[in-house]
Amino acid sequence: MPENTTDAPQQWTPLHGTPYRPVPYHPERMPAEESLAHAERLRQRMDERRTVRRFSTDPVPGQVLRDAIACAATAPSGAHQQPWTFVLVKDPEVRRRIREAAEHEEKISYDGRLGEEWLAALRPLGTDAVKAHMTDAPALIVVFQQRYWLGEDGTRHKHYYVDESVGIAVGMLLSALHLSGLAALIHTPSPMRFLREVLDRPENEKAFAVIPVGYPAEDCEVPDLVRKSLDQVIVEV
Ligand SMILES: Cc1cc2nc3c(=O)[nH]c(=O)nc-3n(C[C@H](O)[C@H](O)[C@H](O)COP(=O)(O)O)c2cc1C
Repeated sequence: MPENTTDAPQQWTPLHGTPYRPVPYHPERMPAEESLAHAERLRQRMDERRTVRRFSTDPVPGQVLRDAIACAATAPSGAHQQPWTFVLVKDPEVRRRIREAAEHEEKISYDGRLGEEWLAALRPLGTDAVKAHMTDAPALIVVFQQRYWLGEDGTRHKHYYVDESVGIAVGMLLSALHLSGLAALIHTPSPMRFLREVLDRPENEKAFAVIPVGYPAEDCEVPDLVRKSLDQVIVEV
């Protein structure tokens, strides 16, 4: 149960097959000037976000992590099935086990499994098989996608657009963490099967990413990357 919950929340159950139940929705319209100011500020703030791979071991406020996960959990999802689980790992021993398993896989990957094309794509990022961020960062958020859900009678029901839904939720999570003053890395050790085993997750869940979260280390550096300009990513018709 989230610590900041004041009113007893309405318990969510799958909508599957229930009739359409509309409620009014009339959010206050933001004046255009205010909207422009918000958009410009947000654009600047988001441009400051960088993937951090060297973390301080300083602790972070747990409630900020839970609030960021709550933001992610407001994401749109296919048929509103919300096919995600966020495992918040603070226990140093569990983080150590995750690091050990990730480094085992990453060593095989960097030693050749990835292939020259992939390794060439990674070279400008300066990454390697050592994943100190998993034990330096004070928390890991491990995101799982739920491929299906189980009805009360044990029937498997498919979830729709799982990759897209979880990808959007993770984007919102990274934005929420950044805007709350924390640094993060989305890490996708491949393969990631070990995460389900280490974290004892059920069979319908598949690991999507491990996200170390914390503050950048004092000697933190990031690769000198250039983002595409707006005219390279936008097409207006
Ligand atoms: C789906 C996805 C998987 C990623 N996996 C890794 C990873 O396994 N290890 C890593 O160091 N960075 C990973 N990254 C981070 C990217 O390398 C990083 O976002 C990119 O280089 C741009 O840098 P920036 O986030 O600082 O703008 C991943 C990013 C995404 C979106």
